[in-house]
Amino acid sequence: MSSTAGNVQKRPHAIVIPCPAQGHIHPLLMLAKLLHQRGFFITFVNSEYNHRRHLRSHGPSSLDGLPDFRFETIPDGLPPSDADVAQDVAALVESTTINCLEPFCELITKLNNAAAPGGPPPVSCIVADGAMAFTLKAAERFGLPDALFWTTSAGGFLAYTYYKDLMEKGYIPLKDMSQVTDGYLETTIDWTKGLKNFRLRDFPAFFRTTDPNDFMLNFPINETNATKRADAVIFNTFDALEQEVLEVLSSSYPPIYTIGPLPLMMNHVQEKSLSSIKSSLWKVDFECINWLDKKEPESVLYVNFGSNAVITAQQLTEFAWGLANSKKPFLWVIRPDLVAGESAMLPPEFVMETKDRCLMSSWVPQEQVLKHPAIGGFLTHSGWNSTLESIAEGVPMICWPFFAEQQTNCRLSCVEWGVGMEIDNNVKKDEVESLVRELMDGEKGKRMKEKALDWKRKAEEATAPGGSSYLNLDKLINEVLNK
Ligand code: UDX
Repeated sequence: MSSTAGNVQKRPHAIVIPCPAQGHIHPLLMLAKLLHQRGFFITFVNSEYNHRRHLRSHGPSSLDGLPDFRFETIPDGLPPSDADVAQDVAALVESTTINCLEPFCELITKLNNAAAPGGPPPVSCIVADGAMAFTLKAAERFGLPDALFWTTSAGGFLAYTYYKDLMEKGYIPLKDMSQVTDGYLETTIDWTKGLKNFRLRDFPAFFRTTDPNDFMLNFPINETNATKRADAVIFNTFDALEQEVLEVLSSSYPPIYTIGPLPLMMNHVQEKSLSSIKSSLWKVDFECINWLDKKEPESVLYVNFGSNAVITAQQLTEFAWGLANSKKPFLWVIRPDLVAGESAMLPPEFVMETKDRCLMSSWVPQEQVLKHPAIGGFLTHSGWNSTLESIAEGVPMICWPFFAEQQTNCRLSCVEWGVGMEIDNNVKKDEVESLVRELMDGEKGKRMKEKALDWKRKAEEATAPGGSSYLNLDKLINEVLNK
């Protein structure tokens, strides 16, 4: 179906709602564009906070959208703020869970009331973030199908589903916070089907609390359980990468549709008008691409800890000297809110030492960076988008997971997929230096590069016409969203 189909009243209308954080907005927006390309009318729902942030970064018309790809907002329920910082994740998801159902339902009613022959069609389906499972109640109220899109790896989702068993068996929450460092997290769990020989520390980090009522400990249990009521579950992954995990999940969840890597699926979107719609909450600095153009192939290490991680001044210094001592060129993205506390500064000696081979930036076009021939490796926090973008471009990684299911993504990257090496949580400059050298010049680095290229080929196969992800998007539309 084309997006200009004659009878607009019959046109499907998807209301797409991400959890209001960068790592969620980006994949949900890509899916929205793919659905638009397949003929859907789109309403994309941002939080008021993120909407304002986006306009500040990209200009007042940056979310004007198109006549049939519109942006709407609802409040996230937190106190109003215009600070350009990543919001506290726990406070945000607790607030959206409690406060967003009614505004979301009011929005659907408003959109349905505005439906008119020749104008927007009524809402016909919901595509919601897995962390916004309250939308299932809206779906029941309006009689709409609701597909939940988990922006984690499938393995990360499966790890969350084991929280309940880990709790019942007494492994979590922690008895004492000293268990984080006393070796307890090395305990191997041998009964989690699909997650072979996982250590406690490979499970998503939200269990690292002593409070059994901690919201973030219980949230994954509630959300993964609610997901059983969805009409479909969507993952930004591809079958070959997570086959075993997907098989385990398929026995207890609604139909699963793997449609990734989405950045590669976006190669099929031809509509030029859609490329002006950006997902980034930060102003993007493109200067780094000119800098990379002047570098030798596979010579540069790319360093970026994503949209949410916050590190200490001490960790910043350890990374800085590790990178400096590796003697490799590097592109390092330091968000204005990356380092905790006031005025964390890089040592002046570090700046002198690295000025000819280092570029600093506050936010870069990451997919373009990872695609650049000069990039030889990625020091990452193992966020799922970053991990998959790296795999899709055949770039091996050094992993320093921060929170959420990044620990799980790190484990899968290092052990199952052979494309990563982990840095100890208590980061030290010597380890950074030796892992960077190993990644860029060593035998292990070479093997990881080969593995990464292998996965890249498989990712391309999955997203090419006739590939598993390509076909799954059609199935998702035909079997669920536009049945
Ligand atoms: C978190 C979780 O860790 C992730 O696994 C979860 O599914 C979503 O939220 P986040 O810190 O946002 O992740 O990292 P990531 O998932 O990697 O997403 C960051 C996104 O921002 C990526 O798509 C990346 O390409 C983009 N980005 C980041 C840029 O475009 N430029 C930058 O400079 C930094």
